[in-house]
Order: sequence, then structure tokens, then C-alpha cells
Amino acid sequence: MPTYSRITGTGSYLPPRRLSNAELAAELATRGVETSDEWIVERTGIRARHFAAPDVTCSDLAVPAAQAAMEAAGVAPQQIDLIIVATSTPDMVFPSAAAILQHKLGIAGCPAFDVQAVCSGFVYALTVADAMIRAGNATRALVVGSEVFSRILDFNDRTTCVLFGDGAGAVVLEASETPGILASDLHADGKHVGILCVPGHVSGGAVLGDPLLKMDGQAVFKLAVGVLEDAARATLAKAGRTQEQIDWLIPHQANIRIMQSTAKRLKLPLDKLVVTVDEHGNTSAASIPLALDHAVRQGKVKKGDLLMLEGVGGGFTWGAVLLNF
Ligand code: ACO
Repeated sequence: MPTYSRITGTGSYLPPRRLSNAELAAELATRGVETSDEWIVERTGIRARHFAAPDVTCSDLAVPAAQAAMEAAGVAPQQIDLIIVATSTPDMVFPSAAAILQHKLGIAGCPAFDVQAVCSGFVYALTVADAMIRAGNATRALVVGSEVFSRILDFNDRTTCVLFGDGAGAVVLEASETPGILASDLHADGKHVGILCVPGHVSGGAVLGDPLLKMDGQAVFKLAVGVLEDAARATLAKAGRTQEQIDWLIPHQANIRIMQSTAKRLKLPLDKLVVTVDEHGNTSAASIPLALDHAVRQGKVKKGDLLMLEGVGGGFTWGAVLLNF
């Protein structure tokens, strides 16, 4: 039985509608909501985000990302034997976006399910897929992060609606004789539910509670910086590696200040940090595979590089995956 799993292909997809900060600010102004390019760039590093058209779903974004990852891996959809989609904005309450994606890819039979850990979803999903492959329950997994966060944004709340975007990223993770994923470290602490949540839920044919995103930005910021450092250090210790060996840090793309302070705490030069938050905004579970795919296609991340992927988000959830690409 193969001892390891390894990423053999990456892909991503952004919906075509790109809104610069200035364009978003102009739209918000029509609602009497004031913001500016200057404020958003200075506090977050975000310059633009992509929004899906109203009829485009999570699984719609996942399809081209998954197809690009399979093409890069040289794998046909029929060879996939596990599909995991990390998302907090699935097409429906049920079935899972993963089951819908499976059908849209023209395949059937393999297990398909969603993982819901908000912005940590992709590192959770990758860890689950790695464990299933190492246990002999799968050999070729499609692991996707896909989100339409624009659906759950309150465009009257300038403290949150300027931060998020839509998109999808995917990897093919295959059983391997040589090490790909070296170590993972996942956590959750539900006492922080209130600082980042979408409290509404479906009940009796209606939505009860507010179905839009609520966030205490400063509380999230403070927690995020500490836990990202801890998860990175724990993962390095489990794998017997040191931070100097990391070639690329690919954190969840929420805020450039959180990302840079994580890099500094790990004593990593900022040129080892993969940054896409400027162009994508925060795409929640999609942000890490989107950033990974962009870095691969730009020729930054190369085969054999040591990558630290890190997620943090609602729950509170956080975690890291250290891998040889
Ligand atoms: N445009 C203009 N002004 C604004 C905006 C805006 N979009 N949003 C807030 N302000 C104002 C506030 O009203 C406040 O004004 P006041 O001083 O007159 O009251 C002022 O700017 C400062 O607001 P703060 O909330 O103190 O700004 P802060 O520097 O903390 O930045 C931010 C806010 C960007 C949200 C920051 O706290 C942050 O990034 N937190 C982490 C958020 C995050 O990463 N979330 C995602 C992680 S998990 C997940 O992805 C689901």
C-alpha cells in the first residue's frame, strides 16, 4: 500500500466579473455606504475581487477548476475515486456540492462529500483526502475549495462586504511512493462562533435569523495571527523540518497584514509569501488552492518545493499542511 499522497495537478477558476475597489466603492455609494480604494488597500491589501453572476453556483465554479487540475495531472475524470469540496456556500442545503460536481464532471460511483470549516476548509479537506489515501480508501482524489461568498455578504456593512470574493481552486491528490503531504495540524474552538458567522438557518420553509456574514474583524485578526504561527510550528515539528526549509508559505488570503505578520513570526522573508489577496480578495475555502494554482502557473512553485499551506476562519477553525510539491 502506498505510504503517501502527493499533489499531481492544480487548477483554479475565477468568475469573469472583476470589481476593483473603486468600482465596488461606486456601487456601494449608491446605497449610501461609504468606502474608498485607499482604506481597503491600506487595511487589507485587497485591490479587486471577482463576483459570480447571480445564477452561478459553487459547483459551477468548481467544474473548470477541477478540470484544469485533472488536465495538469494528466488524469481523466473516470480515474477520480474521491471528491471532497471545501465550501461554506454550497449550491443547496443538500445534497453536497461535491455530489453535484461529480455529476457535472460526468462521473458516478466514487464517494463525494463537502467539508465545512469555512476558510480552513481546504486544509481540512486535504488532510482528510491524505488520510483516506494512506488508509487505502482512495488512490486519486479531487480536492476542491469553491465559494460564492458574494451570496452571504451584507452590502450595507462596509466592514465586511469589501473583504470577500468568489472563486474556486482544486488539486488532484494521488497515492504515491514518495512523500508529498508530510504533516497536518488541524484545530477548532467553537467558543469563538460569534466573532465570525452567518447565523441564519432554514426552518419550516423560511430563513430564521440573519443569513448574512457577521464579523468582529479585530477579534478575528488577533486570534488569526497567533494560531497560524502555532499551526505552522506544530506541522514543522511533526515533519521534523525547520522553517528555513520552507520554499513557499501559502496562507489563507484574508488580509495582507495577517499574512505578513505570520511570515515575520516564522522569520520567513516576505518574498517566500504567495500573495493573491490583492486580486482575489478573501475567497474563504477557495483562497489557498487558488493561490497555489496561480503560483504554480506563474512558475514560482516548482516540483519538489516545500510548501506550508495555512488556513484560519470561522468556527474558529485553523490548521496547516506541510508538503513536498
Ligand atoms: N471603508 C472605510 N472605512 C471603514 C471600512 C470601509 N470598508 N470598514 C470600516 N471602516 C472604518 C470603521 O468604521 C472605523 O471607523 P471609526 O474609527 O470612525 O469607528 C475605522 O474604519 C477603523 O475600523 P476598524 O474595524 O478598527 O479597522 P481595522 O484596522 O481593524 O480593519 C479589518 C478592519 C480590515 C476588518 C481588520 O480588522 C481585519 O482584517 N480583520 C481580520 C478579518 C479577517 O481576516 N477575516 C477573515 C478571516 S476568516 C474568514 O476568512 C472567513
